[in-house]
This record gives sequence, C-alpha cells and structure tokens, in this order.
Amino acid sequence: MTSIAEPAGSGHPHVDDGTDEGGFVHLRRAGVSVLFALRRDPDGDPGQPEIVHWGTDLGDLDSTDLTALAAARAAAVPRGVADEPVPHGLLPERARGYRGRPGVAGHRDGADFAPLLRRVGHHRSADGAAVVFRLADEAAGLAVESRWELDAAGILRIGQQLRNTGAEPYLLAELAVVLPVPADAGELLDFTGRWSRERMPQRRPFGLGAWTRENRRGRTAADSAYLTMAGTPGFGNRHGRVWALHLAWSGDQVTWAEAQPDGTQILGAAELLAPGEISLAPDETYRSPDVLAGYSDTGLDGVSERFHRHLRMRPGHPVSPRPATLNTWEAVYFDHDLARLTELADRAAELGIERLVLDDGWFGGRRSDASSLGDWVVSGQVWPAGLGPLVEHVTGLGMQFGLWVEPEMINPDSDLFRAHPDWVLAPAGRLPPPARHQQVLDVARPEVAALLFDRLDGLVKEYPISYFKWDHNRDLVDATHAGRAGVHAQTVAVYALLDRLRAANPGLEIESCASGGARIDLGILQRTDRVWVSDTNDARERQDIQRWTGLLLPPELMGTHVGPPRSHTTSRTQSLSFRVATALFGHFGVEWDISAASEPERAALGAAVAAYRRLRPLLHTGTAVHADYPDPGATLSGVVALDRGWALFSYARLATGPGETPPPLTFPGLDPKRHYRIRPLAPAGEPEFGHRRPPGWLADGGVILAGRVLATIGLAAPVLDPEQALLLEFRCTDGVPPAGPDPEDNWADSAATGAPPRP
Ligand code: DGJ
Repeated sequence: MTSIAEPAGSGHPHVDDGTDEGGFVHLRRAGVSVLFALRRDPDGDPGQPEIVHWGTDLGDLDSTDLTALAAARAAAVPRGVADEPVPHGLLPERARGYRGRPGVAGHRDGADFAPLLRRVGHHRSADGAAVVFRLADEAAGLAVESRWELDAAGILRIGQQLRNTGAEPYLLAELAVVLPVPADAGELLDFTGRWSRERMPQRRPFGLGAWTRENRRGRTAADSAYLTMAGTPGFGNRHGRVWALHLAWSGDQVTWAEAQPDGTQILGAAELLAPGEISLAPDETYRSPDVLAGYSDTGLDGVSERFHRHLRMRPGHPVSPRPATLNTWEAVYFDHDLARLTELADRAAELGIERLVLDDGWFGGRRSDASSLGDWVVSGQVWPAGLGPLVEHVTGLGMQFGLWVEPEMINPDSDLFRAHPDWVLAPAGRLPPPARHQQVLDVARPEVAALLFDRLDGLVKEYPISYFKWDHNRDLVDATHAGRAGVHAQTVAVYALLDRLRAANPGLEIESCASGGARIDLGILQRTDRVWVSDTNDARERQDIQRWTGLLLPPELMGTHVGPPRSHTTSRTQSLSFRVATALFGHFGVEWDISAASEPERAALGAAVAAYRRLRPLLHTGTAVHADYPDPGATLSGVVALDRGWALFSYARLATGPGETPPPLTFPGLDPKRHYRIRPLAPAGEPEFGHRRPPGWLADGGVILAGRVLATIGLAAPVLDPEQALLLEFRCTDGVPPAGPDPEDNWADSAATGAPPRP
C-alpha cells in the first residue's frame, strides 16, 4: 500500500488547499481518474471535499481546465429548493441539507447527531496516488480521516476513521463510504444466494430512492451483496461502463444505491452497527472497514480484470503452484478410518494429487455434526495412534496434509461447553437458537482467543499441517459480548486470531469456508489463501457460482473440486468431462471417494490432474474473459495469458438453446495481430455432442487462425448436449514452426481414458 506520511504539524486547524491544483485534487492511475473539488462553503470556510468525477481517465488537467471546470460545474438552482445547491461531500451531511443516507450517523446522548464537518487539511502521498483528507467538527467533537488511494490496477481503496474529540462518549451508528456515479449509470447489479447456490446475480433499474442490502448474519453470507454495481443500462460481460464497490469486511454490513431528485446517484457501503455497539470514549477512534471500488468502461470483464490485478499485487497473494487437492468430505463424511483414508491417499497420490485435506470428524467425540466443536483434540476412539500414521502416510507419498477446523464454534455437547458455558457469544442467561446443533464462541474474550490459538498452533507444531480448512457453519444470532452487541468485536478478534496464527506459522495456508461459500470477502481474504466457493460440486450449479464468484476473485483463490458422478447436493448425474472442465477454472481438486471409482474413471481423473498441473501457470496468472455469447443457454469464457500467447477457453452448454445451430464462437481477449493454433482439449474424455457432423475445424482436430478473425467471424459452434463443455487450448503460432504430432494431444486418445465414445 502507498505510504502516506503525515504532514508536519498535523494537528488542526490546518488547511492546505492544494493551490497548485486550483482547488482540486486529481488522482490518476491505470486509466482511472478520481477528481476531488476542495470546495468552500458560501461563508468562505472550507467545506468537505466533493468527488467531481470517478471514472475514465481525464488526462492532465491544467489550471486553465480546472478554473473553467469550477465554473462549468456550478449547478443551476431550481425553484422550490434551498438557495444554494446542496453539496455532496465525502461524508454527506444533514447539516448541509443532504437528504439521503448521511455519511456519519451517531450522537452524544442525543446531541451532536448532525455534524458539520470542515476540511482541516489534506495531504497527498509522494507518488501522487493517494490523498488523506482530515475533516473535523470541533463543536460536535468529531474528527475524521478519510484516505483515498488509487492502486496500479486502478482500484480505489478507501479507508476512514473517526475520533471522538469531545469530552463525553460518542455513540457511533455508522461511518460510510459514499461514491457518486453519473446519471447514465441506470442499472444496478448485485448478488444474493443461499446454501449451495451462492452469488446469484440480480439486476434492476437504478430508480429514485434507495436500494439497500443489509447483512445482519454476523458473517458474510451466501446472500450478501458481494459486489454492488451500477452501469450503463444493458452493460454486459464486455460492453458498457460499470462502477463497482466491495466492502472488505466479514461482519454485519450494509451497501446501498441511492438516487435523489437533484440528480445525485451514489453507491455506499458501511459496517452495519447494532445499537450501542460502538461507543467511543473521549479520544477513542473507530476505523471502518476498507471499501474497494473499481471502474470499467469494458463491462464486467474490466471490473474483474482490475480486481484480479489488485489482488495479485498483494504481497501475501499465493504465488506457489496451487496444489491439486483431495478433500475427504464427500468421500467419507464422518466415517474416519485409518485403513480407508490410507487407501484414499494412495489412490490420490496415483492421480498426481498434491494435497490431502482431512475434513470434519477427526476430533473429540465428533461422529456426527451434533457434538464436540470446541474439543480440538484428536479423537482417541477413531484415531487411537493419533493422526500421525495418516499424516506420515500422506506426506510419505509426497503430498501436503491439510486439516479441517471450525474454531469459532462450540457444541453444547462438548467438554469445552461443559467447562465454560459462559464462553458462548450470547447474552447472560440465555442461548441463541441453535443452528447445526452449535453455538458461537465469544472470541473477543482473551481467554477464548488464547485457547483457540494454543490448540491450532499446537496442532501445527505436532503434525506437519500445511493447510487449515477454516469453516464457519452458522450465523451469529443475538451475539452479545460483555453485555453489548458483539459482531464487531468478534470480527476483529477472529481477524487477530488468524493474523497471529499465520505470523507464528509462516507458510501455513488457510481456506475460508463457511457453510460452503458464505464468508467470501476481501477482509477474510487478507488473512486466508483461498475460499471454498460452494458446498455444491454439481458442475451445472458450479458454472454459475464460479462465474460470479470470479467476478471479484481470480481463479487461484477459488476452491473448485470434481465431485462424484451423482451430485450429493442435487442428485444430478454429470459426465466426468463436464465436471473436470468446470473444476479446471479454479484451484482444482477432487471431492469424491475415488477408491470406489472405476479404473477408467481414475485414469481419466489422473489425466485431468495432469492437465490442471500443466495449465495452472496460465489459469492462475492470466486474464479472465467472458464473451457476450448470444445464446442464453451457453457460455464462452476463458483465461488468456498476460502476453496473449496462450489461452484456454470453455464453451459450456448449460441448457438447450433456441437455435438449431448455435451462434459462432467469437473469442475475446486475443491479440488481433497474431495467429493461434486452436486444439480441443479433453483430458477426461470428449463432451457429448448433439450433431450428426461436427464443424469442419473440429473434425480436423483444430485450426490456425488470426486473433482478429477469431474475435470477429469466429468458429462455427459445435452442437453440445446440455451440461457438456468443450475446452479449447490456444497457442500463438507466430514464429513457431508448423506443429508435428503433439504428445499432449489427449483428444485423440480419449478412448484410452475410458470416456464414452462420441455418439
Ligand atoms: C461445511 C463445509 O462447507 C463442508 O465442505 C464440510 O467441511 C462440512 N462443513 C463439514 O462439517
């Protein structure tokens, strides 16, 4: 992160109007501009800075431009309203006549409920990419620091803090980040969902009033907004302008889109605080979660390209090859048995799997989901010799060993609960309604955090554990810490626990899992290495869930596993080729009792693991692209290497289409000037086709064409049966001698994999 040095003598009052910028501050980077006006109130006092523009790069604005701009944006005053246009500062205020949701909400025993913040200083970072504004209302006893940073990916990160400078406690209700979007952003997109169907998109017109999404579930949830976006109506995968905002926080949260009759349109986000949750003592500071905001003039792909780059630039972003993983959950559930798991490990190693994760069921008396959460000691009943024999077997086969934990939880049927019933995150004298037979631990109690650290750290010290799957399987209800609302304290305490554990165990990786893919946000991802996208391994469902999770997250952060032939969540049966083609676009793994799979299935799965290991340098560094494919029953998407010399595309048929022959495949993201050799790739067998004769290029086993032609005329589409996907690998041929037989061409060899023959 850009470091922002405090200006000398940063105590206020201090106003630096940035006169070299004519009363404006202009951040520019990666094709994005954020222009702030350092406005003054009619009485001449400095008001709050206003965002004049967030979007396309405005280029270099000289003082003549900025002087003219000041006049150009002086708004008309219509009849029937206040005498002066209402300013829309960074933290819009009721005290200046703002009619929407204010930027700061709170009070001091009823007083100071509508602060009037003035700019008391601002400071830009040395590289010009960040600015900190300091605002204060001395009479109300409030001081705010608002930090805006534009990174090299064009992502705007906003962090704010509010200090109580008064003599009495201040009850904070909300500290929001609010971003204006222009009038042509007429359509909204955000997400909802449920267990096994996370991140379902929902669109609506951006009408007058507020569209508000609140999450009061104490953790990021399957139905959280995820990304809140406004765009030019009809914006698509690769067209339209889109403004997107994400709150990097795993507790309660609120995001909104609000339009007012004066033409203001804003997107806003804040931590959702319960009554009385944050009471600031004199001189105490509240720091709000960061908001990350991305602008794109190339539709949703532009949004994800910026967020993916932003995430990949983080110092802690995983860069080692993401190990092909086998997770034991759908293979054995709670039926832990050394012989069975040892055999599973043998089969996994034969396939080229690189990490085995032992899921729920290894500790205390945990033979079902009804007991033992909190008792993080290896079960003597099912593991009489401890986990050592399995761990040694797994690591002896050259695989990493990972372990499932759910540290924030406790079952009433546990030794921990029997010893410390008061450690539950609950009001004194009553328990919240149970969910999955469990309650939540009050991690903000130092003794609870200490116990959890000791148990988890102890496990890593005792066994060579390189990975925790960190689960969280219930909402926080009635969450009460030290007699008041406790979600904020819980979230901060859990972050601190994760940070401490990672600091004590460098190299330890952690997966964020929560009833599948509930807790997915950039707060938890600051201290975890991947997310479990969903509990459904049904590839049809996964096609959608991964597409939308991938809007924010690059493939290497998304756990994507090949499930058994018959899905455990939907009972649908899908071909191995479709399941593999779906799981490849993420951090690939297997979640299936492969000891019971047939020899041909295992051979095909081994080929899939090999393909993943060969392709991951591309998949985990390249640019994700999604065509605006005209047939609503199919998708055409892929990953293109940064140098555009290599790509993998998936043409997936999700439902039958309206036409006899589907529209041609036109491929986005390639270099128009270069040529590509396109080869079908079928590591786990060919997809099922619904045509009597394939398109010519496919019958020929591939084709070489210019990127320009592929992006415009494209390739005639094959007719795929529903729930089938065709993978196509692209290699740039310019400067490369004509290809001879390709040893990796497993398309032609699919018979050897035991895949069903082409109909
Ligand atoms: C919920 C997770 O999402 C599953 O993958 C599995 O780990 C179970 N919990 C175990 O209880």
